[in-house]
Amino acid sequence: KTMQDMPAWAAQLRDVADFPRPGIVFKDINPLLAHPQARAQALTSMVAPWQRVGIGAVLGVEARGFILGTAMAMQMALPFVPVRKPGKLPGAVVSQHYALEYGSDCIQIQADALPAGTRVLIVDDVLATGGTLAATVALARQLQLEVVGGAVLIELDGLGGRARWPVGVPLHASLVV
Ligand code: PRP
Repeated sequence: KTMQDMPAWAAQLRDVADFPRPGIVFKDINPLLAHPQARAQALTSMVAPWQRVGIGAVLGVEARGFILGTAMAMQMALPFVPVRKPGKLPGAVVSQHYALEYGSDCIQIQADALPAGTRVLIVDDVLATGGTLAATVALARQLQLEVVGGAVLIELDGLGGRARWPVGVPLHASLVV
């Protein structure tokens, strides 16, 4: 991609080589979060596709999905519900285990977070292999929530993440790299 294809706010993203492990290029969104003007532009691009979609709540995935998901929920005046790593949520929880490249992980949501049938938008910062978002869809469906969309700031193309998102449900990335 040439710079001309990039939205101006994308200049505030930082690539960090070999983090958190050798061979991984980490997308650091912290410079964007620290830049109010660019951050507002990025948020506008994340919210825009959903203005005419009836959404009942935003689900944000720990940890950076909390930041962007909360910002979106505030902009859209919607409830925000956190999807967390294990052991963080009090009371009854529902869990979804999922495979990582090496090993497995788990995410949880409070069992009484939202009524069955609520139309939810799932938010995270980065779509990479898609494992996290696919697990979040499965978690939401365990509570009989209706997943009506997904929103990520950055989609890493070529890792097959989008193929793991449910067919027929819109998934919007503000930047594809
Ligand atoms: C990163 C990112 C997404 C996920 C994407 O989270 O924030 O949640 O990985 O990868 P995937 O598409 O291959 O599943 P990370 O595990 O770094 O957790 P953090 O946000 O708590 O730092």
